[in-house]
Amino acid sequence: MAASRAGVCGACRCTTTGEIQRQSLVNLTPQDIERGVALACSCTARGDVSFDY
Ligand code: FES
Repeated sequence: MAASRAGVCGACRCTTTGEIQRQSLVNLTPQDIERGVALACSCTARGDVSFDY
């Protein structure tokens, strides 16, 4: 099992609602970003946020 936790592997890919700041956009398309897709290991919540895996 590999562990990245660095915004590289995509294992933590999820859909978010709320305001987040992404530190990594690896393998995220503009459409993903528009739909709230994020890499949970490399984003910071900017208020109340929910994650759907
Ligand atoms: S754990 Fe690999 S991208 Fe988040």
